[in-house]
Amino acid sequence: MQGKRILLIVGGGIAAYKSCELIRLLRKAGASVTCVLTKGGAQFVTPMTLAALSENEVYTSLWDLKNEVEMGHIQLSRQSDLVVVCPATADLMAKMVAGIADDLATTLLLATDKPVLAAPAMNVRMWQHEATVRNVAQLRRDGVTVLEPDEGEMACGEYGPGRLPEPEAILQAILTHPAVRAEPVNVLSFSTAAKGKDAPSTGSGRAGLRGRHVIVTAGPTHEPIDPVRVLANRSSGKQGFAVAGALAEAGARVTLVAGPVSLPTPPGVDRVDVETALQMQRALDAALPADAAVMVAAVSDWRADSSPRKIKKTGGAPPQLALVENPDLLAELASSARRPRLLIGFAAETEDVVENAQAKRERKGCDWIVANDVSGDVMGSETNSVHLITAEGTESWETLSKTEVARRLTRRIAAELGGGNDGEGNAD
Ligand code: CTP
Repeated sequence: MQGKRILLIVGGGIAAYKSCELIRLLRKAGASVTCVLTKGGAQFVTPMTLAALSENEVYTSLWDLKNEVEMGHIQLSRQSDLVVVCPATADLMAKMVAGIADDLATTLLLATDKPVLAAPAMNVRMWQHEATVRNVAQLRRDGVTVLEPDEGEMACGEYGPGRLPEPEAILQAILTHPAVRAEPVNVLSFSTAAKGKDAPSTGSGRAGLRGRHVIVTAGPTHEPIDPVRVLANRSSGKQGFAVAGALAEAGARVTLVAGPVSLPTPPGVDRVDVETALQMQRALDAALPADAAVMVAAVSDWRADSSPRKIKKTGGAPPQLALVENPDLLAELASSARRPRLLIGFAAETEDVVENAQAKRERKGCDWIVANDVSGDVMGSETNSVHLITAEGTESWETLSKTEVARRLTRRIAAELGGGNDGEGNAD
Protein backbone atom coordinates (compact mmCIF):
# COMPACT_ATOMS: atom_id res chain seq x y z
CA MET A 1 0.00 0.00 0.00
CA GLN A 2 3.03 2.23 -0.29
CA GLY A 3 1.89 5.77 -1.05
CA LYS A 4 -1.84 5.01 -0.76
CA ARG A 5 -3.95 7.52 1.19
CA ILE A 6 -6.80 6.43 3.39
CA LEU A 7 -9.38 8.85 4.77
CA LEU A 8 -10.65 7.07 7.88
CA ILE A 9 -13.99 8.20 9.29
CA VAL A 10 -14.40 6.98 12.85
CA GLY A 11 -18.07 6.72 13.82
CA GLY A 12 -19.60 6.60 17.29
CA GLY A 13 -19.69 3.14 18.82
CA ILE A 14 -17.84 1.05 21.35
CA ALA A 15 -16.00 -0.60 18.42
CA ALA A 16 -14.32 2.76 17.67
CA TYR A 17 -11.35 1.61 19.72
CA LYS A 18 -10.64 -1.04 17.06
CA SER A 19 -10.07 1.72 14.51
CA CYS A 20 -6.90 2.57 16.48
CA GLU A 21 -5.53 -0.89 15.67
CA LEU A 22 -6.65 -0.47 12.06
CA ILE A 23 -4.63 2.76 11.77
CA ARG A 24 -1.56 0.91 13.09
CA LEU A 25 -2.02 -1.92 10.56
CA LEU A 26 -2.61 0.48 7.66
CA ARG A 27 0.51 2.44 8.49
CA LYS A 28 2.51 -0.76 8.82
CA ALA A 29 1.27 -1.70 5.33
CA GLY A 30 2.68 1.58 4.01
CA ALA A 31 -0.48 3.71 3.76
CA SER A 32 -0.93 7.22 5.10
CA VAL A 33 -4.05 7.75 7.18
CA THR A 34 -6.04 10.93 7.79
CA CYS A 35 -8.73 10.60 10.43
CA VAL A 36 -12.09 12.28 10.76
CA LEU A 37 -13.75 11.72 14.12
CA THR A 38 -17.51 12.14 14.49
CA LYS A 39 -19.03 13.65 17.63
CA GLY A 40 -20.18 10.16 18.63
CA GLY A 41 -16.78 8.65 17.87
CA ALA A 42 -15.16 11.22 20.17
CA GLN A 43 -17.11 9.70 23.07
CA PHE A 44 -15.03 6.53 22.63
CA VAL A 45 -11.61 7.61 21.33
CA THR A 46 -9.87 10.93 21.52
CA PRO A 47 -8.51 13.03 18.65
CA MET A 48 -5.16 12.86 20.44
CA THR A 49 -5.03 9.06 20.17
CA LEU A 50 -5.87 9.11 16.48
CA ALA A 51 -3.36 11.91 15.81
CA ALA A 52 -0.61 10.04 17.63
CA LEU A 53 -1.27 6.80 15.75
CA SER A 54 -1.76 8.37 12.32
CA GLU A 55 0.89 11.07 12.82
CA ASN A 56 -1.52 13.35 11.01
CA GLU A 57 -3.94 16.09 11.88
CA VAL A 58 -7.35 14.80 13.01
CA TYR A 59 -10.49 16.58 11.86
CA THR A 60 -13.60 16.68 13.99
CA SER A 61 -15.70 19.53 12.70
CA LEU A 62 -16.43 21.34 9.48
CA TRP A 63 -15.12 24.45 11.15
CA ASP A 64 -11.64 22.92 11.82
CA LEU A 65 -10.85 23.29 8.16
CA LYS A 66 -8.91 26.47 8.18
CA ASN A 67 -8.98 26.87 4.45
CA GLU A 68 -12.76 26.71 4.13
CA VAL A 69 -12.53 29.55 1.65
CA GLU A 70 -10.83 27.01 -0.59
CA MET A 71 -13.61 24.52 0.14
CA GLY A 72 -11.41 22.46 2.47
CA HIS A 73 -14.01 19.77 2.98
CA ILE A 74 -14.11 19.09 -0.75
CA GLN A 75 -10.34 18.81 -0.86
CA LEU A 76 -10.17 16.57 2.16
CA SER A 77 -12.76 14.25 0.65
CA ARG A 78 -10.86 13.91 -2.59
CA GLN A 79 -7.25 13.72 -1.48
CA SER A 80 -7.48 10.04 -0.65
CA ASP A 81 -7.52 6.81 -2.64
CA LEU A 82 -10.20 5.24 -0.48
CA VAL A 83 -12.61 6.49 2.20
CA VAL A 84 -13.04 3.97 5.02
CA VAL A 85 -15.88 4.31 7.52
CA CYS A 86 -15.01 2.34 10.65
CA PRO A 87 -17.07 1.72 12.61
CA ALA A 88 -20.03 2.51 10.36
CA THR A 89 -22.96 2.99 12.69
CA ALA A 90 -26.60 2.48 11.70
CA ASP A 91 -27.06 6.24 11.91
CA LEU A 92 -24.07 7.04 9.71
CA MET A 93 -25.16 4.54 7.07
CA ALA A 94 -28.72 5.89 7.10
CA LYS A 95 -27.36 9.38 6.53
CA MET A 96 -25.16 8.13 3.69
CA VAL A 97 -28.21 6.59 2.02
CA ALA A 98 -30.26 9.74 2.43
CA GLY A 99 -27.44 12.09 1.41
CA ILE A 100 -27.62 13.99 4.69
CA ALA A 101 -24.62 16.22 5.28
CA ASP A 102 -24.98 17.67 8.77
CA ASP A 103 -21.44 17.29 10.09
CA LEU A 104 -17.91 16.95 8.73
CA ALA A 105 -18.02 13.16 8.23
CA THR A 106 -21.32 13.11 6.34
CA THR A 107 -20.35 16.19 4.31
CA LEU A 108 -17.14 14.47 3.23
CA LEU A 109 -19.05 11.30 2.35
CA LEU A 110 -21.40 13.29 0.16
CA ALA A 111 -18.66 15.37 -1.44
CA THR A 112 -16.19 12.60 -2.18
CA ASP A 113 -15.54 11.24 -5.63
CA LYS A 114 -13.54 8.34 -4.21
CA PRO A 115 -14.74 4.80 -3.45
CA VAL A 116 -16.07 4.17 0.04
CA LEU A 117 -15.70 1.05 2.18
CA ALA A 118 -17.83 0.75 5.32
CA ALA A 119 -17.21 -1.64 8.22
CA PRO A 120 -20.49 -1.74 10.15
CA ALA A 121 -20.77 -2.31 13.90
CA MET A 122 -23.93 -2.17 15.91
CA ASN A 123 -26.29 -4.10 18.13
CA VAL A 124 -27.65 -7.26 16.48
CA ARG A 125 -31.27 -6.01 16.46
CA MET A 126 -30.19 -2.77 14.84
CA TRP A 127 -28.22 -4.71 12.20
CA GLN A 128 -31.21 -6.95 11.48
CA HIS A 129 -33.75 -4.13 11.51
CA GLU A 130 -35.50 -3.72 8.15
CA ALA A 131 -34.33 -0.11 7.93
CA THR A 132 -30.66 -1.13 8.22
CA VAL A 133 -31.11 -4.10 5.84
CA ARG A 134 -32.65 -1.67 3.33
CA ASN A 135 -29.90 0.91 3.86
CA VAL A 136 -27.08 -1.63 3.46
CA ALA A 137 -28.65 -2.94 0.23
CA GLN A 138 -28.99 0.62 -1.08
CA LEU A 139 -25.41 1.51 -0.17
CA ARG A 140 -24.21 -1.58 -2.03
CA ARG A 141 -26.27 -0.58 -5.04
CA ASP A 142 -24.69 2.86 -4.82
CA GLY A 143 -21.28 1.20 -5.10
CA VAL A 144 -20.22 1.34 -1.44
CA THR A 145 -18.37 -1.78 -0.26
CA VAL A 146 -20.18 -2.73 2.94
CA LEU A 147 -18.40 -5.47 4.89
CA GLU A 148 -20.39 -8.11 6.72
CA PRO A 149 -20.10 -7.69 10.49
CA ASP A 150 -18.84 -10.58 12.61
CA GLU A 151 -21.11 -12.71 14.70
CA GLY A 152 -20.54 -13.15 18.42
CA GLU A 153 -21.14 -11.75 21.84
CA MET A 154 -21.66 -8.01 21.79
CA ALA A 155 -20.60 -5.33 24.23
CA CYS A 156 -24.29 -4.97 25.18
CA GLY A 157 -24.46 -8.66 26.16
CA GLU A 158 -26.55 -9.84 23.20
CA TYR A 159 -25.33 -12.42 20.69
CA GLY A 160 -25.46 -12.35 16.89
CA PRO A 161 -24.14 -10.53 13.82
CA GLY A 162 -23.18 -6.89 14.37
CA ARG A 163 -19.68 -6.97 15.81
CA LEU A 164 -17.05 -4.99 13.94
CA PRO A 165 -14.86 -7.39 11.92
CA GLU A 166 -11.37 -7.76 13.39
CA PRO A 167 -8.95 -5.02 12.20
CA GLU A 168 -6.89 -7.65 10.29
CA ALA A 169 -10.01 -8.63 8.30
CA ILE A 170 -10.80 -4.97 7.57
CA LEU A 171 -7.19 -4.44 6.46
CA GLN A 172 -7.51 -7.46 4.17
CA ALA A 173 -10.66 -6.02 2.58
CA ILE A 174 -8.87 -2.68 2.09
CA LEU A 175 -5.81 -4.37 0.60
CA THR A 176 -7.93 -6.18 -1.97
CA HIS A 177 -10.09 -3.15 -2.80
CA PRO A 178 -9.50 -2.12 -6.43
CA ALA A 179 -8.89 1.50 -5.35
CA VAL A 180 -5.91 0.48 -3.27
CA ARG A 181 -4.53 -2.54 -5.00
CA ALA A 182 -1.78 -1.51 -7.39
CA GLU A 183 -1.90 -4.87 -9.13
CA PRO A 184 -4.64 -7.46 -8.75
CA VAL A 185 -3.81 -10.00 -6.08
CA ASN A 186 -4.43 -12.82 -8.51
CA VAL A 187 -2.62 -12.12 -11.71
CA LEU A 188 -4.89 -13.31 -14.48
CA SER A 189 -4.35 -12.78 -18.15
CA PHE A 190 -7.63 -12.30 -19.92
CA SER A 191 -6.37 -11.41 -23.35
CA THR A 192 -5.67 -15.04 -24.29
CA ALA A 193 -9.06 -16.11 -22.98
CA ALA A 194 -10.64 -13.40 -25.09
CA LYS A 195 -9.15 -15.11 -28.10
CA GLY A 196 -10.85 -18.33 -27.13
CA LYS A 197 -8.07 -20.01 -25.19
CA ASP A 198 -7.60 -20.34 -21.48
CA ALA A 199 -4.73 -18.38 -20.13
CA PRO A 200 -2.71 -19.69 -17.23
CA SER A 201 -3.79 -18.32 -13.88
CA THR A 202 -0.56 -16.48 -13.31
CA GLY A 203 0.84 -13.99 -15.72
CA SER A 204 0.44 -10.44 -16.81
CA GLY A 205 -1.46 -8.97 -13.87
CA ARG A 206 -4.40 -7.15 -15.42
CA ALA A 207 -7.73 -6.82 -13.68
CA GLY A 208 -10.35 -7.77 -16.24
CA LEU A 209 -13.52 -7.07 -14.29
CA ARG A 210 -12.86 -3.73 -12.66
CA GLY A 211 -16.06 -1.68 -12.58
CA ARG A 212 -18.29 -4.72 -13.11
CA HIS A 213 -20.85 -5.94 -10.58
CA VAL A 214 -21.35 -9.69 -10.42
CA ILE A 215 -23.82 -11.55 -8.22
CA VAL A 216 -22.98 -15.09 -7.12
CA THR A 217 -25.34 -17.46 -5.33
CA ALA A 218 -23.77 -20.31 -3.38
CA GLY A 219 -24.42 -23.10 -0.92
CA PRO A 220 -27.60 -25.00 -0.19
CA THR A 221 -30.86 -23.57 1.06
CA HIS A 222 -32.53 -24.82 4.21
CA GLU A 223 -36.30 -24.99 4.12
CA PRO A 224 -37.86 -25.22 7.57
CA ILE A 225 -40.23 -28.10 8.35
CA ASP A 226 -40.77 -26.87 11.90
CA PRO A 227 -38.65 -24.72 14.24
CA VAL A 228 -36.03 -27.48 14.66
CA ARG A 229 -36.03 -29.38 11.36
CA VAL A 230 -35.12 -28.41 7.79
CA LEU A 231 -35.10 -29.81 4.26
CA ALA A 232 -31.49 -29.50 3.14
CA ASN A 233 -29.03 -30.76 0.52
CA ARG A 234 -25.36 -31.69 0.47
CA SER A 235 -24.00 -28.55 -1.24
CA SER A 236 -20.88 -27.37 0.63
CA GLY A 237 -20.79 -23.90 -0.97
CA LYS A 238 -17.08 -24.35 -1.83
CA GLN A 239 -17.46 -23.94 -5.60
CA GLY A 240 -19.65 -20.84 -5.30
CA PHE A 241 -17.35 -19.23 -2.73
CA ALA A 242 -14.37 -19.97 -4.99
CA VAL A 243 -16.19 -18.28 -7.91
CA ALA A 244 -16.96 -15.21 -5.77
CA GLY A 245 -13.32 -15.03 -4.62
CA ALA A 246 -11.91 -15.37 -8.15
CA LEU A 247 -14.24 -12.65 -9.47
CA ALA A 248 -13.20 -10.29 -6.68
CA GLU A 249 -9.54 -11.05 -7.35
CA ALA A 250 -10.14 -10.04 -10.96
CA GLY A 251 -11.44 -6.66 -9.79
CA ALA A 252 -15.23 -7.17 -9.89
CA ARG A 253 -17.56 -5.89 -7.20
CA VAL A 254 -19.06 -9.13 -6.01
CA THR A 255 -22.26 -9.71 -4.06
CA LEU A 256 -22.28 -13.25 -2.73
CA VAL A 257 -25.71 -14.47 -1.68
CA ALA A 258 -24.85 -17.44 0.50
CA GLY A 259 -27.04 -20.19 1.86
CA PRO A 260 -26.24 -21.68 5.28
CA VAL A 261 -22.56 -22.70 5.15
CA SER A 262 -19.73 -21.99 7.54
CA LEU A 263 -17.13 -20.86 5.03
CA PRO A 264 -15.10 -17.66 5.44
CA THR A 265 -16.04 -14.77 3.17
CA PRO A 266 -13.46 -14.41 0.38
CA PRO A 267 -11.58 -11.09 0.65
CA GLY A 268 -13.24 -8.14 -1.03
CA VAL A 269 -16.60 -9.90 -1.43
CA ASP A 270 -19.89 -8.46 -0.10
CA ARG A 271 -21.74 -11.35 1.49
CA VAL A 272 -25.45 -11.61 2.22
CA ASP A 273 -26.41 -14.67 4.26
CA VAL A 274 -29.77 -16.32 3.71
CA GLU A 275 -31.42 -19.58 4.76
CA THR A 276 -34.28 -20.27 2.38
CA ALA A 277 -34.99 -20.02 -1.34
CA LEU A 278 -37.46 -17.18 -0.75
CA GLN A 279 -34.86 -15.23 1.23
CA MET A 280 -32.37 -15.87 -1.58
CA GLN A 281 -34.93 -14.49 -4.04
CA ARG A 282 -35.27 -11.28 -1.97
CA ALA A 283 -31.50 -10.90 -1.57
CA LEU A 284 -31.00 -11.30 -5.31
CA ASP A 285 -33.62 -8.69 -5.97
CA ALA A 286 -31.91 -6.27 -3.58
CA ALA A 287 -28.49 -6.93 -5.15
CA LEU A 288 -29.58 -6.16 -8.72
CA PRO A 289 -28.69 -4.61 -11.13
CA ALA A 290 -25.57 -6.55 -12.12
CA ASP A 291 -23.48 -7.10 -15.22
CA ALA A 292 -23.42 -10.86 -14.63
CA ALA A 293 -24.86 -13.43 -12.26
CA VAL A 294 -23.40 -16.84 -11.53
CA MET A 295 -26.01 -19.05 -9.91
CA VAL A 296 -24.04 -21.77 -8.18
CA ALA A 297 -26.44 -22.33 -5.27
CA ALA A 298 -28.21 -25.65 -4.92
CA VAL A 299 -31.58 -24.05 -4.33
CA SER A 300 -34.13 -26.42 -2.87
CA ASP A 301 -36.79 -27.14 -5.49
CA TRP A 302 -39.41 -27.43 -2.76
CA ARG A 303 -40.19 -25.94 0.61
CA ALA A 304 -42.36 -27.49 3.27
CA ASP A 305 -45.56 -26.01 4.50
CA SER A 306 -43.78 -25.48 7.81
CA SER A 307 -45.30 -25.83 11.23
CA PRO A 308 -44.80 -22.98 13.71
CA ARG A 309 -44.47 -25.59 16.51
CA LYS A 310 -42.20 -28.62 16.77
CA ILE A 311 -43.97 -31.62 15.25
CA LYS A 312 -44.35 -34.31 17.91
CA LYS A 313 -44.52 -38.10 17.58
CA THR A 314 -48.11 -39.08 18.25
CA GLY A 315 -47.71 -42.85 18.14
CA GLY A 316 -49.90 -42.95 15.04
CA ALA A 317 -48.99 -42.59 11.35
CA PRO A 318 -45.90 -40.43 10.61
CA PRO A 319 -46.74 -36.85 9.60
CA GLN A 320 -47.20 -36.09 5.90
CA LEU A 321 -44.90 -33.41 4.54
CA ALA A 322 -46.83 -31.05 2.28
CA LEU A 323 -44.32 -29.60 -0.21
CA VAL A 324 -44.70 -26.37 -2.14
CA GLU A 325 -42.56 -25.67 -5.22
CA ASN A 326 -39.99 -22.90 -4.80
CA PRO A 327 -39.53 -20.27 -7.50
CA ASP A 328 -36.77 -21.07 -9.98
CA LEU A 329 -34.49 -18.11 -9.32
CA LEU A 330 -32.35 -18.66 -12.40
CA ALA A 331 -35.30 -18.97 -14.79
CA GLU A 332 -37.04 -16.00 -13.15
CA LEU A 333 -33.95 -13.82 -13.54
CA ALA A 334 -33.51 -14.95 -17.15
CA SER A 335 -36.94 -13.63 -18.08
CA SER A 336 -36.92 -10.52 -15.90
CA ALA A 337 -36.46 -6.96 -17.12
CA ARG A 338 -33.35 -6.71 -14.92
CA ARG A 339 -31.64 -9.75 -16.46
CA PRO A 340 -27.86 -9.34 -16.20
CA ARG A 341 -26.08 -9.26 -19.54
CA LEU A 342 -24.39 -12.59 -18.80
CA LEU A 343 -26.35 -15.17 -16.85
CA ILE A 344 -24.67 -18.42 -15.83
CA GLY A 345 -26.28 -21.43 -14.21
CA PHE A 346 -24.72 -24.51 -12.69
CA ALA A 347 -26.27 -27.92 -13.25
CA ALA A 348 -25.85 -30.81 -10.91
CA GLU A 349 -26.60 -34.02 -12.80
CA THR A 350 -26.20 -37.67 -12.00
CA GLU A 351 -26.78 -39.05 -15.53
CA ASP A 352 -26.59 -37.86 -19.16
CA VAL A 353 -24.76 -34.86 -17.76
CA VAL A 354 -24.13 -32.93 -20.98
CA GLU A 355 -27.50 -33.66 -22.65
CA ASN A 356 -29.46 -32.74 -19.53
CA ALA A 357 -27.42 -29.60 -19.03
CA GLN A 358 -27.82 -28.50 -22.65
CA ALA A 359 -31.59 -28.89 -22.30
CA LYS A 360 -31.47 -27.05 -18.97
CA ARG A 361 -29.64 -24.09 -20.55
CA GLU A 362 -32.41 -23.64 -23.09
CA ARG A 363 -35.24 -24.32 -20.65
CA LYS A 364 -33.98 -21.82 -18.10
CA GLY A 365 -32.96 -19.17 -20.63
CA CYS A 366 -29.45 -18.60 -19.30
CA ASP A 367 -26.37 -17.98 -21.45
CA TRP A 368 -24.05 -20.62 -20.08
CA ILE A 369 -24.36 -23.68 -17.91
CA VAL A 370 -21.51 -25.18 -15.96
CA ALA A 371 -22.47 -28.82 -15.69
CA ASN A 372 -21.04 -31.25 -13.24
CA ASP A 373 -21.54 -34.89 -12.54
CA VAL A 374 -22.59 -35.23 -8.92
CA SER A 375 -22.97 -38.99 -9.00
CA GLY A 376 -19.52 -39.26 -7.30
CA ASP A 377 -18.40 -37.34 -4.24
CA VAL A 378 -18.18 -33.83 -5.76
CA MET A 379 -20.25 -32.30 -2.98
CA GLY A 380 -17.79 -31.18 -0.33
CA SER A 381 -14.70 -32.30 -2.27
CA GLU A 382 -11.91 -29.97 -3.38
CA THR A 383 -12.03 -30.85 -7.09
CA ASN A 384 -14.59 -30.68 -9.84
CA SER A 385 -14.93 -32.04 -13.41
CA VAL A 386 -17.14 -29.69 -15.37
CA HIS A 387 -18.43 -29.02 -18.86
CA LEU A 388 -18.99 -25.45 -20.00
CA ILE A 389 -22.11 -25.33 -22.15
CA THR A 390 -22.73 -22.23 -24.25
CA ALA A 391 -24.76 -21.46 -27.36
CA GLU A 392 -21.62 -22.26 -29.36
CA GLY A 393 -21.13 -25.75 -27.97
CA THR A 394 -19.74 -27.77 -25.09
CA GLU A 395 -16.24 -27.78 -23.67
CA SER A 396 -15.18 -30.46 -21.23
CA TRP A 397 -12.54 -29.32 -18.78
CA GLU A 398 -10.11 -31.71 -17.12
CA THR A 399 -10.57 -32.34 -13.40
CA LEU A 400 -9.44 -29.17 -11.64
CA SER A 401 -9.47 -27.80 -8.11
CA LYS A 402 -12.62 -25.78 -7.41
CA THR A 403 -10.41 -22.68 -7.19
CA GLU A 404 -9.01 -23.36 -10.64
CA VAL A 405 -12.51 -23.98 -12.08
CA ALA A 406 -13.50 -20.62 -10.58
CA ARG A 407 -10.49 -18.84 -12.09
CA ARG A 408 -11.02 -20.34 -15.52
CA LEU A 409 -14.68 -19.37 -15.43
CA THR A 410 -13.70 -15.87 -14.29
CA ARG A 411 -11.40 -15.48 -17.28
CA ARG A 412 -14.26 -16.47 -19.56
CA ILE A 413 -16.60 -14.00 -17.87
CA ALA A 414 -14.02 -11.21 -18.20
CA ALA A 415 -13.50 -12.03 -21.87
CA GLU A 416 -17.26 -11.99 -22.44
CA LEU A 417 -18.00 -8.78 -20.56
CA GLY A 418 -14.89 -6.99 -21.66
CA GLY A 419 -13.96 -5.48 -18.28
CA GLY A 420 -11.59 -2.56 -17.76
CA ASN A 421 -8.58 -2.03 -19.96
CA ASP A 422 -6.98 -5.41 -20.54
CA GLY A 423 -3.82 -3.82 -21.72
CA GLU A 424 -4.40 -4.65 -25.38
CA GLY A 425 -6.57 -1.70 -26.23
CA ASN A 426 -9.79 -3.44 -25.35
CA ALA A 427 -10.88 -0.80 -22.86
CA ASP A 428 -14.53 0.07 -22.57
N1 CTP B 1 -31.82 -22.90 -9.56
C1 CTP B 1 -32.44 -21.77 -9.10
N2 CTP B 1 -33.61 -21.86 -8.41
C2 CTP B 1 -34.17 -23.06 -8.18
C3 CTP B 1 -33.53 -24.24 -8.63
C4 CTP B 1 -32.35 -24.11 -9.32
O1 CTP B 1 -31.93 -20.66 -9.32
N3 CTP B 1 -35.30 -23.12 -7.48
C5 CTP B 1 -30.57 -22.75 -10.33
C6 CTP B 1 -29.33 -23.29 -9.67
O2 CTP B 1 -28.68 -22.30 -8.90
C7 CTP B 1 -28.50 -23.71 -10.86
C8 CTP B 1 -29.51 -24.12 -11.91
O3 CTP B 1 -30.74 -23.51 -11.52
O4 CTP B 1 -27.78 -22.64 -11.41
C9 CTP B 1 -29.74 -25.57 -12.07
O5 CTP B 1 -29.95 -26.19 -10.84
P1 CTP B 1 -30.36 -27.72 -10.77
O6 CTP B 1 -30.62 -28.09 -9.35
O7 CTP B 1 -29.37 -28.55 -11.54
O8 CTP B 1 -31.69 -27.68 -11.65
P2 CTP B 1 -33.18 -27.90 -11.31
O9 CTP B 1 -33.94 -26.76 -11.87
O10 CTP B 1 -33.38 -28.18 -9.88
O11 CTP B 1 -33.47 -29.15 -12.24
P3 CTP B 1 -33.61 -30.69 -11.87
O12 CTP B 1 -33.53 -30.79 -10.38
O13 CTP B 1 -34.93 -31.03 -12.43
O14 CTP B 1 -32.46 -31.33 -12.59
